[in-house]
Amino acid sequence: MQSWIPLVPDSASTVSWKVDALYFYLSGVTLFFTLLISGTLIFFVIRYRRRTPYEIPRPVAGSHKLETVWTIIPFIIAMTMFAWGVTVYFDQYKPPQNAIEVYVVGKQWMWKLQHATGQREINELHVPVGRKIRLIMTSEDVIHDFFVPAFRTKADVVPGRYTTMWFEATKPGQYHLFCAEYCGMNHSGMTGTVIVMEPRDFDNWLSGNTGSTTPATAGQQLYQTLGCASCHGANGEGGRGPALVGTFGSQVNLASGGTVTADEGYIRESIVNPQAKLVAGFGPIMPTFQGQVTEDQLVQLMAYIKSLHPPGTQTPAATAPSPSPSRAVNAPSPTQNIK
Ligand code: CUA
Repeated sequence: MQSWIPLVPDSASTVSWKVDALYFYLSGVTLFFTLLISGTLIFFVIRYRRRTPYEIPRPVAGSHKLETVWTIIPFIIAMTMFAWGVTVYFDQYKPPQNAIEVYVVGKQWMWKLQHATGQREINELHVPVGRKIRLIMTSEDVIHDFFVPAFRTKADVVPGRYTTMWFEATKPGQYHLFCAEYCGMNHSGMTGTVIVMEPRDFDNWLSGNTGSTTPATAGQQLYQTLGCASCHGANGEGGRGPALVGTFGSQVNLASGGTVTADEGYIRESIVNPQAKLVAGFGPIMPTFQGQVTEDQLVQLMAYIKSLHPPGTQTPAATAPSPSPSRAVNAPSPTQNIK
């Protein structure tokens, strides 16, 4: 909805009206008390002005009743803001099931995106309307921030870890994509466009842009090239490292005791810093791949590992055609392993 006075940007996602409603509430409360307080102030200045040069005002004693009422009312108002804000926040940042996954790599000063079906884009993201899209994001250099004002959602893109965000666009169109974290000289030029299409048009776009290998396939090739498979093949061939089939999204027992969820952050850490969280039953023999693989390649390796599901289970995200709504991913909690 574009109003006559553009108070808010275009509203084009399932959460944008919720964010707007909260903001209007906050603005309304602020406006109400601004008027109330300044009005009262002006009224008192006039009503209780000093009328003669020698006037001595009557002393005022405190009122516990007034103090109590005026503590409880602001408390209740503040709590409504808190509760409402938390509700919207959780709506916005809880990763959804059945989302289409898109990998995002930020670098000075561009956005590189790749669909699970292989299509690559730069500073553009094509998505279908009415489908949940989950972005798995990392940076090659400094902190960036993926921000689509029309969707009312943004998330930092941080080197050395994965962050995620999701959205579901509600109407076709083209929307601004901004970098919302100062990242150097051309930060203000690090922009792009999110193109929301009808599902049919999106399918046409996808099929008209084939030819690129899927990240999972590229990851599989890389897995061979780097020699990973000689120690731990997908099913544990090699025997020196744990098997990978079914690992993603599962609970992994660690040599140090305890468990960890094998999410994107854990997979990444296990490649660049293998000794950090050793799997129970295996020695600290894996060399680090820090500096030997690019962020793009790490994403590919991760896509490959994610695609290794035990036979008979849900199709992994990386290989299913995009429109199938049955594409379930064992979405772990937000992948924010600190590394
Ligand atoms: Cu990237 Cu600012």
